Amino acid sequence: MLSIVNSCNLIGIDGFIVNVEVDITRGMPCFNIVGLASIEIKEAKERVKSAIINSGFEFPAKRIVVNLSPADIKKEGSLLDLPISIGLLINYIQKEKSYFDETIFVGELSLDGSLKKVRGILPIVLSAKQKGYKRIFIPHENLKESSYVDGIEIIPVKNLRECINYINGKIALDLSSMLYKNTSIQEEKYEEDFGDVKGNYFVKRGLEIAAAGNHNVMLIGPPGSGKTMMARRIKTIMPDLDKDEMMEISKIYSIAGLINNNIGIINKRPFRAPHHSATNVSLIGGGAKAIPGEIVLAHRGVLFLDEIAEFNKKTLEMLRQPIEDGEINLSRLKFYVKYPCNILIIAAMNPCPCGYFMSNIECKCTEYEMTRYRNKVSGPLLDRFDIFLDVVPIEFGEFKDNNFTETSKTIKNRVQEAKNIQRKRFENSDIKNNNEIKSYQINKYCKLDEDASKIAKKIFTKYNLSNRSYTKLLKTARTIADLDLCKDINKNHLLEAFSYRKGYYKYFK
Ligand SMILES: Nc1ncnc2c1ncn2[C@@H]1O[C@H](COP(=O)(O)OP(=O)(O)OP(=O)(O)O)[C@@H](O)[C@H]1O
Ligand SMILES: [Mg+2]
Ligand SMILES: [Zn+2]
Repeated sequence: MLSIVNSCNLIGIDGFIVNVEVDITRGMPCFNIVGLASIEIKEAKERVKSAIINSGFEFPAKRIVVNLSPADIKKEGSLLDLPISIGLLINYIQKEKSYFDETIFVGELSLDGSLKKVRGILPIVLSAKQKGYKRIFIPHENLKESSYVDGIEIIPVKNLRECINYINGKIALDLSSMLYKNTSIQEEKYEEDFGDVKGNYFVKRGLEIAAAGNHNVMLIGPPGSGKTMMARRIKTIMPDLDKDEMMEISKIYSIAGLINNNIGIINKRPFRAPHHSATNVSLIGGGAKAIPGEIVLAHRGVLFLDEIAEFNKKTLEMLRQPIEDGEINLSRLKFYVKYPCNILIIAAMNPCPCGYFMSNIECKCTEYEMTRYRNKVSGPLLDRFDIFLDVVPIEFGEFKDNNFTETSKTIKNRVQEAKNIQRKRFENSDIKNNNEIKSYQINKYCKLDEDASKIAKKIFTKYNLSNRSYTKLLKTARTIADLDLCKDINKNHLLEAFSYRKGYYKYFK
């Protein structure tokens, strides 16, 4: 007897349907699974068998062949425990074939028959819905994480027996998933605020522009000048996420098994601050299961690389391509997994090993030490930064100054407005921020007025800018013009954008 049960697996952040064909025939009792890596088959067989018996069902003492298709794509074995069991227990279920054609089952079984939480349930439920399935059975523990998806019936079950009883109409389930769908998404509160930061107007302004147009920032300055303090506060002024972005980020966190909050969705821009001792795998991602790394977890948010010169140089170099492309390919045994990583990088460093080069305190570093230190951050990597901020310690007087400093809320309002302008501008394209404007789109989006054109030409020739640096300059100027609510880029916008390159010339040229 042949039965077909549908399930779902992931490639990157998207799901694909897996057909689980279970054939039970007379003959010598045996249990074979084809279409999975050998080690996973062994584990799946043991789990499924124990779970069925311990749930009080009879394990068919017949010749069993389970075929998982498509055969050419690698599948995550444990998610398929539930559909395999359902296929084996088809005789216990009073439903027509059409019911199974409309239904997806996912879940890993414990030996006692209970269902365990799985990674990636959100992208799985989303793709089941997109493919037109009517209902999906998921582990109960995954309920919150999937409950923002509507248009598909989500049935959370605690164990195998409950699943079968429900299908047979013997029990009703509390489908409280509906509750979450209507929960409003609350704004997150932060303890830190830009209101705590005295002086440093130039730096704060630079961070505002970065948040508005997603421009990568490098903060350079002596110890204690407030680099870490200010960089960490950028999260308080980042523009709100739209619904698509929220789903995109939540899919990633679902795959990484990191949605632990009460609302079951990621509703604020990520701020990831890996330590400089971070390994390649934790930063970039990978491992046997191609788990997303920090750069992917920071998607649509901030990756803060504090003390960037202390990171492993090779690890830093691996960031270059993904930063440029906004996506990363991770190899996983025989195939690649693609994840998005559209991130804002905020990096901070001292100008030299002792920290005091070009400051009021004497620098004790030798020429050799300086070169070695600076070389940690390569030229091509530096090229990825649009804004260089020379952080100067505030004077004693400024510390005592009780003058009003702008709060994060005020700054964020401006950022949000500039973001709204960009949403309109890029409405029918696949980009979201000014920093993503391609060089061939520069003339379309970054129009300079007459004065600005003249100055642009002067800067271009005097500083011998590369094409990449020049486009970066115009994109930053575009964001400044947006913050200023101006249609075209004027002289002041351009000059301000150029002022954020001065730190580069001071420390790296
Ligand atoms: N502009 C400022 N306004 C208020 N407090 C400040 C300011 N700058 C620095 N501080 C104080 O100095 C402390 C040290 O700053 P922070 O740790 O950010 O320095 P840093 O530049 O990251 O130094 P390091 O190079 O050693 O990492 C802050 O926690 C804060 O208390
Ligand atoms: Mg610091
Ligand atoms: Zn020094």
